[in-house]
Amino acid sequence: MSATPWWASESMWRKCAIWVTAGMAVILIFLTFDTVNKITAGNGRVPAYDVINSRIYYQFDRERGFQVPVIGDEAPLFGRKLSPEEAEALVTHGKMTIQAKNCMNCHTLLGNGAYYAPDLTKSWLDPGWAAEAVREDLMMRFLRDPPNNARTYGTGRRMPNLDISEEEARAIVAYLKWMAAIDTNGFPRGFEPIAQEGDS
Ligand code: HEC
Repeated sequence: MSATPWWASESMWRKCAIWVTAGMAVILIFLTFDTVNKITAGNGRVPAYDVINSRIYYQFDRERGFQVPVIGDEAPLFGRKLSPEEAEALVTHGKMTIQAKNCMNCHTLLGNGAYYAPDLTKSWLDPGWAAEAVREDLMMRFLRDPPNNARTYGTGRRMPNLDISEEEARAIVAYLKWMAAIDTNGFPRGFEPIAQEGDS
């Protein structure tokens, strides 16, 4: 008697392989749509681009055990309120500039990049910008001429002059403000934000 038991039959294993592959393909397609939805601006944890018209600050979330960005009152970037389209164009220009100048060679943004220089994910909230009232001005000066406007973020390193125009610097600041408003699940860990007016 050499009848093959059911669990060792070739056809059973072939069917298993087909069903598992098909099942995983369906799950993968579902997760892809789910993720794309979650990382699209204006959905879930990623705010719409016109969030740059509002004050962004950090607040400790007791339930989650870390700080989360809060979108506060109206506080337009550079004092001018932008339409959703204008805001998207500005933030996109900032992103393109950051890619074109390869800032990730030294910095990390949203988990991608290098750690030669400070993580930029929450740079907008960095205490290095002294106070909210002077932040925009200090950021613009720094980006346009880093060696002469060094902020010393504790690395002892210096950022080179990357020949960033005024328009590009404004767009970068808009991008950094928008990025700071993204709920990154507490990343980067242990980040201490700039002194926030109205903190209790
Ligand atoms: C060659 C490496 C290098 C490149 C490329 C670079 N940076 Fe920097 N960056 C630094 C260093 C080093 C510092 C810290 C400077 C200091 O402490 O004074 C810094 C600091 C900063 C800060 C302040 C950090 C903070 O915590 O808020 C910002 C904002 C910034 N860089 C933006 C940019 C942007 C935008 C680009 C691309 C256009 C860029 N950097 C490209 C090296 C670099």
